[in-house]
Amino acid sequence: MCGIVGILGQHEVAPLILDALRRLEYRGYDSAGIATVNEGRLDRRRATGKLWALSDLLVQDPIRGHVGIGHTRWATHGAPTEANAHPHRSGPVAVVHNGIIENFRELRAELEADGVTFDTDTDTEAVAHLAARELRGGRTPVEAAQETLARLDGAFALLFLFEGEEDLLVAARRGSPLALGHGEGEMFVGSDAVALAPLARELTYLEEGDWAVVRRDSVQLFDEANAPVERPRTIVAAANAYADKGVHKHFMAKEIHEQPTVMSYALSQYTAADRAAVALPGIAVDFTGFDRVVMVACGTAHLACHVAKYWFEQLARIPVEIEVASEFRYREPPVAPRTLAIFVSQSGETADTLAALRYMRGRAAAIAAVVNVLESSIARESDLVFPIHAGVEVGVASTKAFTCQLTVLAALAILAARQNGRIDAAREAELVSALESVPAAMAQVLAHEEVYGPLCWELSKASDVLFLGRGAMYPLALEGALKLKEISYIHAEGYASGELKHGPIALIDETVPVIVLAPSDALFDKTVSNMQEVMARGGRILLVTDQAGLSRASEGLWQSLRLPPVDPFVAPILYAVPAQLLAYHTAVTKGTDVDQPRNLAKSVTVE
Ligand code: F6R
Repeated sequence: MCGIVGILGQHEVAPLILDALRRLEYRGYDSAGIATVNEGRLDRRRATGKLWALSDLLVQDPIRGHVGIGHTRWATHGAPTEANAHPHRSGPVAVVHNGIIENFRELRAELEADGVTFDTDTDTEAVAHLAARELRGGRTPVEAAQETLARLDGAFALLFLFEGEEDLLVAARRGSPLALGHGEGEMFVGSDAVALAPLARELTYLEEGDWAVVRRDSVQLFDEANAPVERPRTIVAAANAYADKGVHKHFMAKEIHEQPTVMSYALSQYTAADRAAVALPGIAVDFTGFDRVVMVACGTAHLACHVAKYWFEQLARIPVEIEVASEFRYREPPVAPRTLAIFVSQSGETADTLAALRYMRGRAAAIAAVVNVLESSIARESDLVFPIHAGVEVGVASTKAFTCQLTVLAALAILAARQNGRIDAAREAELVSALESVPAAMAQVLAHEEVYGPLCWELSKASDVLFLGRGAMYPLALEGALKLKEISYIHAEGYASGELKHGPIALIDETVPVIVLAPSDALFDKTVSNMQEVMARGGRILLVTDQAGLSRASEGLWQSLRLPPVDPFVAPILYAVPAQLLAYHTAVTKGTDVDQPRNLAKSVTVE
């Protein structure tokens, strides 16, 4: 949700800021802006729409200066207009902001009563006016920023830039991440390591409540009580470098195609050298110490938890509760002793998931994170961290992170089953070997991608699509529907196959394609009965199954997709790929913006 950048450079900073914003565009892309100080004068440029609009504006009307801040926006308060685009300015102060200022209405009323006129509908403008008022009252820029921060409630990351100050940025982190990048006589500030990757190898992550006075040759860090603090410097992993699309038209396509490789690598990190058992990478976890597991996440990561619930309960006989993070915290659930809380998040910065984690701190016996970004807040605040090794995921629709989350959760479920004495070494070897078979099966699916074009041309004509699945394929039906709606804007719903007749079957007619995700497992015949119920009402079925499934149920189908046979245990990982390809090719057919679908952002750092 919004990306922010600040640079104290030795040369013109606008091109570098623009470039860093490009790497942050996944966080929001409805408008963007840059402010600099040049020869003492504060100046800014802002444009609505994607970053290229700002880039075009800067060609026509360049902005100069060796210090500046930039912003790419995902609107929270106020429509995506130029007036509402950041940086926001009040006289000699410009600010960029990621997050929400919760008390902005009170602040606005107070400032308006003081004669201040507001030009925007944003919560951020109040921050600029507060700082400007402090300057008018005789404070120095650093004092003005400090006083302003003390007045703000909410979760945010902020950068302040001041007229007349060419060697100063003030950065603050409360709830939203912020990293400082150390250069040679230069300093960089950004929402994440990806933004700063080509600019600085050494990063300092601000801790919760920290604020920093940043100059080219020095950084003073303060904690939330304004006491000076030291924070460690870390070397950025090369894997954090910004990815490009390679031969693919979209990041999403590239990330779908990376799955055989990244899943193989993730699995290699969670299996013993002989590939016959699960072995965790230097992390000790003993599931016999827990009576239950609570898994909390949002969106696709939540659906990974949903699949894992089946695995943990069936294999390890550990009860698992799965929770949507945004509901969990406010429900204030009681937490039984001996509960392991697992938070699953690609970005590790999702505000709802982080808030739920903080709720569980002190209540659960242990807090574990399954994350892609190791430097993230969720990773840093967890007792146990399980990396998913998916590599940078740029496409807003999560693909490879989902299958890598599933891989890690499957390994943990196998480990829990072994520790609880539910499986012997032979069964464990079978399960690991089933996981090992998935990357090659994924590669086979991807090798026949050409079949999706004509199929998705048909799908793209639909206004509503239903996805059905049973058992651990039910969450996959939900994931298939989520992927389709978020990138193709076609209304789609996922249902447990057996639930259809309890209401949703009323929707069925020849205009509503029904996509059934059903490997030929123990539940297959039940799903076939549900398919018959749909077909009896004129419904059109697209069955995604294996050869054995097709030979048992091909009659009357509208369409089918044949997948390689895999052990039913790992089918949810493999079947994610056709679900992603159906969404992707439908979106491409419709001409939507696949990597940056409307209204969405990759990292949802506001509640
Ligand atoms: C959907 C999607 C989102 C994310 C969700 C959680 O394709 O990507 O639903 O899964 O916003 O994000 P993370 O995993 O970063 O916590």
